[in-house]
Amino acid sequence: MAPDLNKVRNELPAALDAAYLNTGSYGPLSRAAAAAIEEANNQQLNGGRLNFSVGEANQATASALRSSFARVLGCADDEVALTHHTTDGMNIATWGVQYSPGDEIVTNSWEHPGGLLPVYAVARRFHLVVRVVPLSLDDDEDAIVDKFDRAIGPRTKLVSVTHVSWKTGVILPIERLAALVHAHGGLIAVDGAQSGGAMRLDMEALNADFYAIPGQKWLCGPEGIGALYVNRIRLGELLQTYVGYPSLRSGDAFDETGIFLPPAGAKRYEVGTTYRPAIAGMFNGLQWLEQLGLDWVFERTQTITRQMRAALAAIPSVRIVDTPTHAGLTSFTIDGVAPDAAVESLAQAGVLIRSVPDPTLLRVSSHFFNDESDIQRLSSAIRELG
Ligand SMILES: Cc1ncc(COP(=O)(O)O)c(C=O)c1O
Repeated sequence: MAPDLNKVRNELPAALDAAYLNTGSYGPLSRAAAAAIEEANNQQLNGGRLNFSVGEANQATASALRSSFARVLGCADDEVALTHHTTDGMNIATWGVQYSPGDEIVTNSWEHPGGLLPVYAVARRFHLVVRVVPLSLDDDEDAIVDKFDRAIGPRTKLVSVTHVSWKTGVILPIERLAALVHAHGGLIAVDGAQSGGAMRLDMEALNADFYAIPGQKWLCGPEGIGALYVNRIRLGELLQTYVGYPSLRSGDAFDETGIFLPPAGAKRYEVGTTYRPAIAGMFNGLQWLEQLGLDWVFERTQTITRQMRAALAAIPSVRIVDTPTHAGLTSFTIDGVAPDAAVESLAQAGVLIRSVPDPTLLRVSSHFFNDESDIQRLSSAIRELG
């Protein structure tokens, strides 16, 4: 039986007062996540952080969290490394590929800085060529694939691309792009900031090599925690750029000659001490989402986003970017109203959305907890703008 939406909404207090339509920036924190954060903080404050059993319990929660993230990503548990956010995962993937001067990285004009800046940084460090595929609003899937096909070649070491565009909300054809770059022996790193928790993912079907997601957006978890998928067959190829105690097979798995042994899986990309309340909060938050049912979450996001698009399309002053595919993002403009001014006026009416740059658009996020009243509040606030 489908969960009761009112009860679900009650578990996300920040989504009750406002029409919370900006999950693509930050999702509302779930009570489940917040309760575990508080408990972990209290434990640290009152019980201390050095107690052996606390340490053991923390390892167990971290391991269970990798498994929870694996179910969100659609991959095996040992293909998941815990990170701090999407950008962390994109950096680990982008820096870990082995480059020679003159090698190429292919990206596109719509990437978020979280994926793009690591590309520019490695290009500068290793003397690489960056090919930026120019995307435009009217590109269909075939046009996108054709453009990438023209940019990818024998020197392409990495394609760095987002799964769901943070600007238009379109789902990029990762399987087809992966096939293109794999044909040349290159790899693909996918920015999953707008897809992780917003749509069903299956790493094997996507054929991605690396895939980074955050906790704080569509998974309604805390800040400071995320996950990186590393395809098992790429573990040998993706170097460990950052290493520390957690990157070892066991605490003594190194010697004075500089040899150290990583664990068999993606945990080797984890480094140093992580904020334990974030691990506990994310784990509890994901358990709550799984109790609701991840399939229900994804189906409901599709349904409410379709309704959102229909409601926006019915407003005469709205020009919607009608992408053929979507997860939870919808972009549009309002005739005669500057996007930033619209964001501000809507916020005053208790409707939380944002604008995005190049092309300048308004962007709404609709997620499983949003309901018809949120759509209605958005529609009336827009109609009042003119
Ligand atoms: C597509 C995309 N990539 C990366 C990021 C950065 O995410 P994080 O803060 O999790 O690194 C965002 C966040 O807004 C995004 O939309």
